[in-house]
This record gives sequence, C-alpha cells and structure tokens, in this order.
Amino acid sequence: RSETWATREELKSWHLRRAQDCKVTMGPLRYGPSHTILIDVKDFNHDGKLNTVDGRPQWDAAHVKMPYSKENIFMSKGFLLGTDKQPRWNVISKHLKKLHKGSPTVADIEKAIMSYNPQYQDSWSFAGLQRYVQTIPKQESIFSKVIPKIAELALRLPEWVKRAIPLLQRGRSHAITLSQMQIAALLANAFFCTFPHRNTTSRNAEYAEYPTINFSSLFGSTSPMVMEKLRAILQYFNTVTCEASRPSGLVTFQRCCIPDAQLPDWRGKDELLGNIRVTSEGTIEKEGKGLLQVDFACNLVGGGVLSSGLVQEEILFLMNPELIVARLFTEKLNDNECLRIKGAQQYSEYSGYSKSFEWSGSHREVLPRDDWRRLQRQIVAIDALNFKHPNEQYQKNKIKRELNKAFVGFKEEDHSPNKLPEIATGNWGCGAFHGDPILKALIQMMAAAVAKRDLVFFTFGDKHLEKNLRKIHTILTEHKLAVGDIYVMLEFYCVERARKQDLDLCSYIRTYTRNSPL
Ligand code: AR6
Repeated sequence: RSETWATREELKSWHLRRAQDCKVTMGPLRYGPSHTILIDVKDFNHDGKLNTVDGRPQWDAAHVKMPYSKENIFMSKGFLLGTDKQPRWNVISKHLKKLHKGSPTVADIEKAIMSYNPQYQDSWSFAGLQRYVQTIPKQESIFSKVIPKIAELALRLPEWVKRAIPLLQRGRSHAITLSQMQIAALLANAFFCTFPHRNTTSRNAEYAEYPTINFSSLFGSTSPMVMEKLRAILQYFNTVTCEASRPSGLVTFQRCCIPDAQLPDWRGKDELLGNIRVTSEGTIEKEGKGLLQVDFACNLVGGGVLSSGLVQEEILFLMNPELIVARLFTEKLNDNECLRIKGAQQYSEYSGYSKSFEWSGSHREVLPRDDWRRLQRQIVAIDALNFKHPNEQYQKNKIKRELNKAFVGFKEEDHSPNKLPEIATGNWGCGAFHGDPILKALIQMMAAAVAKRDLVFFTFGDKHLEKNLRKIHTILTEHKLAVGDIYVMLEFYCVERARKQDLDLCSYIRTYTRNSPL
C-alpha cells in the first residue's frame, strides 16, 4: 500500500517530522526591532527566570491600551453637580479586590464588571454565566473557587506586564514573546472586561479592525454550546492559578507578512508536488501533534470564540486558551499575512464538533519545550475566503489569493526546510467558508511544494475525499505536472466550469491529464 494514506494503526507508524525532531538550536533570546519580549532577557538567558522586563504602557495608536494606564480615566457623576475623574484602574482594582475575598456569586461579578463599564448597563447580560452556575453539577463546578483566583491574577497585571505591548499591525512582520503567566494575567483582565476602548465594534470604532477581547460577549448567551465554552475557559484559569500546575514557559506570536512583490509567480513555478499523506483518521491537533498545525482562521483571529462560533478555530482556541490573547493585539489579517504561534499549551480535551461539542476534561501536557522554553506546538492561522456562493471560488484571482495565503502560512525563512516540521492540515476553508475540498487541497499541495514542505492531510472522517486526494496526487505526480502546470490547468478549469457548472475538479483532472503526454 502506498504511503499516502493510512488506517488509524498505520498512522501511528508513519515517521512524521515533528518539531521535536528538528533539533533547531535557537541561540539566546534577544530583543530586536521586530521582536518585542515582555520578560527580562538577561535573567532568562542567565538562569531561566521569567521576570517582567521594565517599561511602561504607552497610550497611543501603536500599542495595546492597558487597563492600568494612567490615561485610562473613569468619569462618574459626583455627589454634587459635575463629574468626578479618577484612574479607571482604581475602580477596577477596588471591585476585583472584593471578588478576590470570599466566594463571589454571578451577581457580584456583574456588579464588579458593570461598575467600570456603566455605559453597557442596558446591553450586557450575565444570564449565561448564571445558567452555567445553575447547570454545571456542584462537584464539578470550579466556579466559586476559581473566580477569586482570576481576580487576583487580573490584579497582578501592572506588576507582571510592564513593557508596552505593540499592536501587530497590518503590513508589518513582528513578533511578541511573553510568559504563559503574563498571558494568564492579560486573559484574566479580558475575563473581567477591563480592556479600554475594546467594547464598541461599530465600523469607525478605534479597534474596529481588531477582534474583540473582553469576555462580555460570552456571558450573555444561555446556549448549551456557550456552557461548554465556559467549562473550557474556567478549566484553563483553574489550572494556571493552581501552584502545582502553573505553566512556566514562553509563547511567541508572530505576524508574518510577505510583500506582494515577493509572492510566487504561480504560472512560472517549476516545483513538483512534494510528499503528501492523506488520512481520514484523526485530527490535526491530536494525530498531527508536533507538526505545524493549520488553524482554519477568520481574518479576525479566533473568529467567534468569544461568541457563538464553535468550529475548528474556536475549538482550537478553547483547548489552548492562550491563543485567545492574540485577539488583544492582532489586527485583521491581510491577504498576504498569517499569524504564527509557538508554545501555546493545551489545557482541555473535547468530544463532538459544533453543536455536539462538549468539554470532556482536563488535558495533561506532555510536549517537550524548545530552547526558549516554548512548548513544541506550532500553529499557523491562515484565513480562507468565505464564499457566500460556492461558484465564486472558481475564478483565477480567488485561486491566486488562496495560493498566496497558504504560501505565506507555510513558508518559513529562518531554517532550512528539513529543519521544519511537516504541515498538518485538512479541509481549510471548506466548512463555514464553503470551499471545494478538492480545489482547496490542491491549492495547499501547490503552496507546500513551493514552500518546500511536506503535508499531512486530515480529511476529518471523509473516506471518499481521502481516496480522491490520493488519486489526484498520484496522477499529478506520475504526469510530472509542476506547480505552474497545475496552475494553468486550474485556469482552464475555471473557464470550463463557467460554462458547465456541474464539472467537478476530480474528473476534470483525470481528463486533462489523460490528454497530456506522460
Ligand atoms: N482536524 C481536522 N479537520 C478538521 C478539524 C480538526 N480538528 N476540525 C474541523 N475539520 P471550519 P473554515 C474539518 O468550518 O471553512 C471559524 O468560525 C471539517 O471537515 O472550521 O475555514 C473561523 O473563525 C470542517 O468542515 O473552517 C472562521 O471564521 C473543515 O475542517 C471560519 O470558521 C473546515 O472547518 C473558517 O471556516
């Protein structure tokens, strides 16, 4: 049997190149113009300590506006006429300190959050949080135990994150490295909705081009899916606030941008397709552990994780909640950009998918770490196009856009390709975004070939797709069709398809190659 597909048993026997096999020597951690590090590098390189680096927040258009910044002012109506002004952090910390003591109820949480967000009094609801407390069995609920600890974590922010956090803005490659506990303190603030200027999503709002970060949108819904999300999130906070399971590593978020002029000229590419292994067994995150895992992303990373969405990306973010912090600083991705995340930890397990999704318990992390003490989990967020009408995708410019996006995600300059893990992907853009699985798989194979990386393709249980992809790959490689040839073939296909809408790509490839000499 060919090496291109496998049963679950065989899958285990595949020798995949995982991050831990790449043995990349990192060198010491260093600040740089395109790398912001929020811990003290000297201490880290000297004895591995994760101390915060000195600095102060900056209240401008290039940095995250921090809840404790002195410019974050709270105005309230005074006892006498006029308004009182005070640092908003005073109000936040006063209320969080109250939550930190005793065992707070949902009403206490609501009171605290609304005290510094009074303008949302009529629009925010806590009905979902209330339902969570009522429906999760007492013995399992960690609610009353964990809320005071999240409050304590949030209060640590000014002490733990001192240096200004740059926004990862469009058009610029830049990385941010921070400790897992710094992320926890940031997420604890998101939980209590303390981030300023982040609650309005109107078109001309200051952060309209950023994902939401405050958790308010998660507390109102009483849907069973949101209950499962809350379980995953509270599990995360429970783990990071427990002395014995406190995470002790670093995580890097890197926005990568390849200027248009440096993107491949697809027509002229002479690379042949590389190795691809297809399986209908397993998932990207489990069987593809240690590979570069593709996040089927929204251009606002994390998609609907803090609201109603619950497909591949949202599940990934819930199982690895450190990813959620990317929403704080990652501007909407352009067509030539991706976000890479190295070192995020998995805290939970799940079963089901979408409506049947259930949190199914805590996850014990066993991945090794790299020289910068990041877990060997690499994720790349690439957003496919959302085809409202499936026919839209069979257009040259759309195919080129998807090729470029996949290429930006797969291409890594830092190391030679044989020092890079293989890519774990699947039906990217083919669920919520209505893509054609064969076309999208082909696009990913082409992008991977030009980026000189091998693919492991998880069809998510689809045996028919597994068979078809294996066939297509065999035909294209037997005919020695290079990426440029395949690109031209796809251009012809688009023309043909415009005339004959039921012409499927699989049969077209068979006919096309039959007519071309071996
Ligand atoms: N492993 C392998 N394949 C998977 C997995 C997994 N863990 N989970 C799902 N699939 P979708 P999209 C397969 O719809 O179309 C989110 O809201 C499964 O066949 O998540 O790119 C984002 O935030 C599924 O149908 O990705 C975006 O807004 C297919 O992958 C939007 O959805 C596609 O998964 C992206 O939608």
